[in-house]
Amino acid sequence: MGPLSAPPCTQRITWKGLLLTASLLHIWNAPTTAQVTIEAQPPKLSEGKDILLLVHNLPKNLAGYIWYKGQMTDLQHYITSYLVHNHKVIPGPEYTGRETVYCNASLLIEDVTREDAGSYTLQIIKRGDGIRGATGHFTVTLYLEAPKPSISSSNLNPREAMEAVTLTCDSETPDASYLWWMNGQSLPMTYRLKLSKTNRTLILFGVTKDIAGPYECEIRNAVSASRSDPVTLNLLHGPDLPSIYPSFAYYRSGENLYLSCFADSNPPAQYSWTINGKFLLSGQNLSIPQITTKHSGLYACSVRNSATGMESSRSVTVNVSGKWIPASLAIGF
Ligand SMILES: *[C@@H]1O[C@H](CO)[C@@H](O)[C@H](O)[C@H]1NC(C)=O
Ligand SMILES: *[C@@H]1O[C@H](CO)[C@@H](O)[C@H](O)[C@H]1NC(C)=O
Ligand SMILES: *[C@@H]1O[C@H](CO)[C@@H](O)[C@H](O)[C@H]1NC(C)=O
Ligand SMILES: *[C@@H]1O[C@H](CO)[C@@H](O)[C@H](O)[C@H]1NC(C)=O
Repeated sequence: MGPLSAPPCTQRITWKGLLLTASLLHIWNAPTTAQVTIEAQPPKLSEGKDILLLVHNLPKNLAGYIWYKGQMTDLQHYITSYLVHNHKVIPGPEYTGRETVYCNASLLIEDVTREDAGSYTLQIIKRGDGIRGATGHFTVTLYLEAPKPSISSSNLNPREAMEAVTLTCDSETPDASYLWWMNGQSLPMTYRLKLSKTNRTLILFGVTKDIAGPYECEIRNAVSASRSDPVTLNLLHGPDLPSIYPSFAYYRSGENLYLSCFADSNPPAQYSWTINGKFLLSGQNLSIPQITTKHSGLYACSVRNSATGMESSRSVTVNVSGKWIPASLAIGF
């Protein structure tokens, strides 16, 4: 809420002015006479915001209003007052420059600080026959804005479907509630996700690709909401059963043999090739130029993921025929 555009229907007068006018006010305490209520807008606020203490059911025929900090209606606690007959505002010792009293008795406090929290008293002075005064109290409570949370994880690199992971929304904030998102949406209903009683901790039982994230958490309190940066779990998985390209097995002498192996794995798998069980080379791809019949055999690609401790392999039989027959000649056969 910004400062209100409506100007207070008043002008300010000096402290000297107060001393002169204060003696003119006849102040009586008769709390039962007025059904005055005070409402705060917004009802809950944090430091740096503005608050308007709205006064409802103000009686008619008033001489003025005085706002006090606390519950004592003495000069020391006097913030500001408004005199109806001359529309004058008279600031007091508790006036900080951030308070504005309106002609309808409502009090605006701008840029609220911690010191502003606490109770306020409004004193209303009636005029005419049977001069009467009434007071009403109101308490302003300040809330701290929720800090930007961060997600901590018991394990950022879980092995796929094998390890439970605990995500915690930090830091713990009093009187706050915690909310979680996965892929920008509310958590899917699955037995593999479980929230703690306070919702601050999320447990993932056996992380698979579909629940690896990204996760975000939010801390909400009476006055604010703040969301964390997203966190995605780095799922350690594989290697899957490797594939070998090309898959055809027949070659002719003099051709180049090129075999490529791939297995999905995180982190990437380590590859090695064997021929007829004998180690040939480390690496994903195998290239032998100008092969001959003696290159025939069983070529196997082995893959290993040291992070998951898993391995796998696949083989292909390469059959190199001795004679190369040009297609044009072969037609006649
Ligand atoms: C009193 O005046 C202020 C400023 O013009 C306004 O915002 C507020 O709503 C008024 N209060 C009531 C109870 O009408
Ligand atoms: C936890 O979150 C659920 C919705 O996900 C909500 O219904 C529940 O009230 C929350 N509990 C607390 C203690 O905030
Ligand atoms: C192996 O070959 C594949 C397909 O030709 C290629 O994508 C990959 O980058 C190669 N790997 C290496 C380590 O050279
Ligand atoms: C290679 O192919 C020839 C002809 O099809 C066949 O006779 C031979 O048994 C094959 N060799 C191997 C090692 O598969």
